[in-house]
Amino acid sequence: MNNAGLFKNNIKKILQKPLFGSEYILNGWAKQVRKQKTNLFFQLSDGSNLHGLSCLTKPTNQITNGCSMLVKGNLQSHPTLGTPELLVNEFSILGNSDETYPIQKRRMTIDELRNSLVHFKPRTSIGLAYTKLNHHLTKSIHDAFAKLDFTQIYTPLITSMDCEGAGETFSLGSQLNCNANLTVSGQLHLEIFANCMAKVYTFGSTFRAEKSHTNRHLAEFRMVEGEMAFLDDVGELMDYIEFIVRESVNDVFGKCSDELKVLHEFNRAESGLDHLMKNFHRISYKEAIKILQKEYRDIEFGSDLSREHELYLTNVHFNHSPVFVYNYPKSLKPFYMRQVDDDSSLVSCCDLLVPHVGEIVGGSLREERYSNLLANIHEKGMDPKKLDWYLDLRKYGTTRHGGFGLGYERLLQWISASQNIKDCVFFPRSNGHCPI
Ligand code: 4AD
Repeated sequence: MNNAGLFKNNIKKILQKPLFGSEYILNGWAKQVRKQKTNLFFQLSDGSNLHGLSCLTKPTNQITNGCSMLVKGNLQSHPTLGTPELLVNEFSILGNSDETYPIQKRRMTIDELRNSLVHFKPRTSIGLAYTKLNHHLTKSIHDAFAKLDFTQIYTPLITSMDCEGAGETFSLGSQLNCNANLTVSGQLHLEIFANCMAKVYTFGSTFRAEKSHTNRHLAEFRMVEGEMAFLDDVGELMDYIEFIVRESVNDVFGKCSDELKVLHEFNRAESGLDHLMKNFHRISYKEAIKILQKEYRDIEFGSDLSREHELYLTNVHFNHSPVFVYNYPKSLKPFYMRQVDDDSSLVSCCDLLVPHVGEIVGGSLREERYSNLLANIHEKGMDPKKLDWYLDLRKYGTTRHGGFGLGYERLLQWISASQNIKDCVFFPRSNGHCPI
C-alpha cells in the first residue's frame, strides 16, 4: 500500500463531499479505540478536521490509541445514523503507541494539559479545537483589516523604545551592547507608517515582564494593533475597533461552530455564542465612576479600574455586553495620548471591556501637537532626545491620528469562554512558568 499523500486527500475534504462506495487510502492517528466482539471502532485523525473519521475493522490488538497508521478502506454510510464511516480492509501501523499513552478515556485536567502533558495537548479534542480556532481567528482578523484597505506592517521585536513607559520591558542591553529590549507594543513604529499611509496595522508578538499571577496576563502574547491618520475624534476610533472585533468574531462563529461548541462545553460556558455579540455600549470614564460609586466605596475620579470594576460594568451593569470606557484621566495614561480639547485633566482614549475577561483593547488618539507632546515627555521625566524621531512626525505633516491594541489571547479567552488565558495558548509564559 502506497503512502496516502496528504497533498491529494484529507479527511476534511472527504467529509465535505462523501463518495459512498469509493476506496480511500489515508494517513492519520487512531483515537477513541473501542474493541467489541465482531468489530474494532476508532476515529482516524489527520488534523484536518476536529473529530476525524469514524473507522471500523476486524478486532485486532495492533490498533491502539495514539498509533500512527496508513489505512485503506471503503466509505460507507452508518447503518442507523447515515453518517460516513470507513470500512477498513487493510492497514499498517507506522508508529506504535502502548498502554502508557497518557491520552486515554479519562478527562485530563487543565493543570495536566498546561504542564506535564503540554506536548500532548494538540492531540486532545480540546487542544485541537483551540488550534483550529486560533488558525481561523488569525485569518479572520487579517480579512477584517483587508475589508477596510489597511496595509500590514512588520514592526520589530527588538527595539530601544518602552512604548507604555510602565517599566515592564525585558532588557537585551547586555547582549547587544546598546539600549535594547523586547517590544511591549508596535505602536510607535506603526505611527511612522500611519503618518504617510493613513491606515496600517501590525499583528505580532509582544512581551511584558509581568510579575502578577492573574488569569489574563502573559509574559509573551500577541497584539493586533491598528493605527489610523485623519481621525475626527475618539468616537471614530471606537467605530474602527468595533468593526474589527465584530467582523472577525462573526466570521469565526461561522467557520468554527464545532470548535466553539466543544470549547464552550469543556469550559462550562453559561450561555451560547449569541450573547457575545450584543450591542457595544459606550460610556465616559466619568460616567463609569458614577456607576461604580453606587457599588464600591473606595473608587473616585483618578482611580484606575480594577478587573473587578471592569467585570461589574460588563457583566452586571450592562448585562453581559461589551462596553467601551473612554476619556480617562491623563495621570493614569502614557505620554503619547492626546489631551481632550476642553478638559486638560483627560486624554482621548478608550478601553474595550468584555464580559468574563474585562479589558481586551486599549486605544487612544495620539498627541499630534508638537509642543503638547514635548510637554508630556518632560512631565513624565522622559528624555526628548531619545524620541526626536517620534517628535519629527509632528513637525512634518502631522495629522490627528490614533490607534489601538487588541490583546489577541484575551480575545480568544473571551470567545472560547476559557477561565484562564494560559489555556488559550500552547506555551504560556508567565512569572515562574516556562515548562518547555
Ligand atoms: O493597553 P495596552 O498596554 O496598550 C498598548 O500597548 C498600546 N500601545 C496599544 C496601541 O494603542 N497600539 O495593551 C493593549 C492590549 C490590552 O488591552 C490587553 O488586551 C493586551 O493588550 N495585554 C495583555 N494581554 C495578555 N497579557 C498581558 N500581560 C497583556 N498586557 C496587555
